[in-house]
Amino acid sequence: MEKTVSVAPMMDCTDRHDRFLLRLISKNVMLYTEMIATKSAIHGDRKKILAYSSEEKPLALQVGGSDKKELAEVSKIAESMGYDEININLGCPSKKVQKNKFGACLMKEPDLVAECINEMTNSCKIPVTAKTRIGFDDTEDFDYLNKFILKMKEAGCKTFFLHARKAILKGLSPKQNLNIPKLNYEMVYKIKKVNTDLKIIINGGITKIEEIKNHLKKCDGVMIGRAIYQNPFFLVDIEREIFNNKNNPTRDYVVKELLKYLEKEIKVGTKVNHVMRHAVGLYHGQTGSKNWKRYLSDNMMARDSDFQKAKHIMTIVQNNEKVNQKIL
Ligand SMILES: Cc1cc2nc3c(=O)[nH]c(=O)nc-3n(C[C@H](O)[C@H](O)[C@H](O)COP(=O)(O)O)c2cc1C
Repeated sequence: MEKTVSVAPMMDCTDRHDRFLLRLISKNVMLYTEMIATKSAIHGDRKKILAYSSEEKPLALQVGGSDKKELAEVSKIAESMGYDEININLGCPSKKVQKNKFGACLMKEPDLVAECINEMTNSCKIPVTAKTRIGFDDTEDFDYLNKFILKMKEAGCKTFFLHARKAILKGLSPKQNLNIPKLNYEMVYKIKKVNTDLKIIINGGITKIEEIKNHLKKCDGVMIGRAIYQNPFFLVDIEREIFNNKNNPTRDYVVKELLKYLEKEIKVGTKVNHVMRHAVGLYHGQTGSKNWKRYLSDNMMARDSDFQKAKHIMTIVQNNEKVNQKIL
């Protein structure tokens, strides 16, 4: 699949229920799982950790690890479970992740990363891709980044997601690390310019269609995280403006389909709030957003929320649709 637009992997956000919701809205974006540690993928309850609905595809598994044997095993598992790609996380700066030696701290160890990627590409036929930052701590240097990328290329990786800000490994929280280091899109553009044979996908701070269009002039794709999680209907603009798809769903349709999914999921033990929490932003920027959020929080966000309580949800949706159509 062309990765013109991808939804970024986000812990506690892009789980299977969120991905199902996003896929109801957009057929053309590429989806990523949250980061899964190699050890949990290998030893954990796979049904819980790695299972997904076929509707979510095309779908990539993002993995965190630096043990090449484990990474190779997870690559095999990903392929056998029908994932379309495996992506290694080389960008997460959290303390816990550093302690386990994966994520952004691996930017300091290009040889180790290359060995890992080599094992991964040798153990599966699906594409192995990497998501990294443009630097770390005091290192924000084009030559360093380019050499790192070339090493990974030699090991078999041809697609890179570059979060266009460095990671500060000591002193900033993961949240601060998503906002404080300055965005440097030029560095990403330059990487693409000198590596025409690689797919370079730019990430970080992208929130508008115009920005996507501009980045696509210089990179092979964009990856967007928060702007889509907080406002899933941004995907409709993306479908219309980037993929030229004029046949897009309404919120009414999306909620109806999500309820059907919820009903099925409840039968296998999923909690109402685990699905519905991802729908909070469905009316982002629209009239009725407050009512929608209040309805969800009053009826569907508690740990023991009862599905029966959802029966009035369509009244909220239909009222919101009416108000917003009038405004249009
Ligand atoms: C809540 C949250 C969780 C994240 N979890 C991951 C993750 O599991 N793996 C990863 O590579 N990046 C993770 N990220 C970083 C995003 O993938 C992305 O690189 C970052 O948010 C910048 O893109 P944006 O400005 O479009 O949100 C996370 C970001 C957020 C906000």
